[in-house]
Amino acid sequence: MSAHLAVVGGGVIGLSCAWAAAREGWQVTLVDAAPASGASWVAGGMLAPVTEAWPGEEPLLELGVASVALWPEWASSLSADAGRSAGLRTEGTVVAATGAGDRAELDALASHLGRLGRPVERLSGRELRRLEPALGPDVRGGLSVPDDLSVDNRALLAALQAAAEKAGVVSDRRAARAVTGGPVGRVECVEGPPVEADVVLVAAGAHSSSLHPALDGLVRPVKGEILRLARRAGAFPVPTRTVRALVDGRPVYLVPRENGVVVGATQSENGFDTEPTVGGVRDLLRDAERIVPGIAEYALQEVAAGLRPGSPDNVPLIGPIGPDGLLVATGHSRNGILLAPITAAAVVASLRGERMPDVVGAADPDRFAGSRR
Ligand code: GLY
Repeated sequence: MSAHLAVVGGGVIGLSCAWAAAREGWQVTLVDAAPASGASWVAGGMLAPVTEAWPGEEPLLELGVASVALWPEWASSLSADAGRSAGLRTEGTVVAATGAGDRAELDALASHLGRLGRPVERLSGRELRRLEPALGPDVRGGLSVPDDLSVDNRALLAALQAAAEKAGVVSDRRAARAVTGGPVGRVECVEGPPVEADVVLVAAGAHSSSLHPALDGLVRPVKGEILRLARRAGAFPVPTRTVRALVDGRPVYLVPRENGVVVGATQSENGFDTEPTVGGVRDLLRDAERIVPGIAEYALQEVAAGLRPGSPDNVPLIGPIGPDGLLVATGHSRNGILLAPITAAAVVASLRGERMPDVVGAADPDRFAGSRR
């Protein structure tokens, strides 16, 4: 009889790990009252290791670069298993700056990446507009980063759910309230009997910390407000690439979709609050319109807020933790969708009893053990 894995959390990380484990022959139960919702549903879907990692975050950059390299093949095997598109877009990313301060900041980022052996192309405002005619006259310069990609996160979730179901993953639609690792793994739910399994994997995003004492204080909710805009007839075409920008020091991004853009995202810490605010929406619209003026003619389709699972150093926690060896894949901070393929590969290595890829060493959950004693 095959071994039983219980995965707690049906976001992009939990679903990716569940699908991967089921393909390996594990009997998998995915415990989540509302799979494919939460931060994974609200996300923008950038696969952007270079433009998301800032100086001082080199291990995260390395992890992200390793994961984005897996994405094209991972997406095509997911599409094949699911029988539907995984939503990957490979047109790349441009980063735009308006004022002198923003341009200086992007220059510093470009120099830093060059020193790390990851050169990016610096472009004038005119050169950027040649690539992306939707950029407005306030854009004075920026960068082209063709290897930073994107994915339609909702298409991705639908594909993961379909592939997981076809691979035999069983969905248990209850909320988990506590977990135990080995030797007999248990997932206690808010109602009904516990799920017992050989291995329990916690992939519950911002809700992970309360499930097990070893995770206490390691994952915190980081709120992000985000908008979905739909292009209306006659409006300026949607940019082809992801457009990121600094506007008077504030970061904003526009991630293209089939017929619109996702505009994100604010960042604040208010516990588990997911109510979008007037100020957040105003800032996003004002800054996005400054970069891509044509969005003024688009329809404001959706306003939402999600909770990124923040870790103390923005690097996720992947691997066993605590005295009972609980397996975790959480704390992916701003990079859950990007890091899904490498996280699933690392979890599979752990389930096989193999060494995880070296680059995942930075995500060892035990790195915080000393500071917690
Ligand atoms: N990765 C984009 C965000 O967290 O807003």
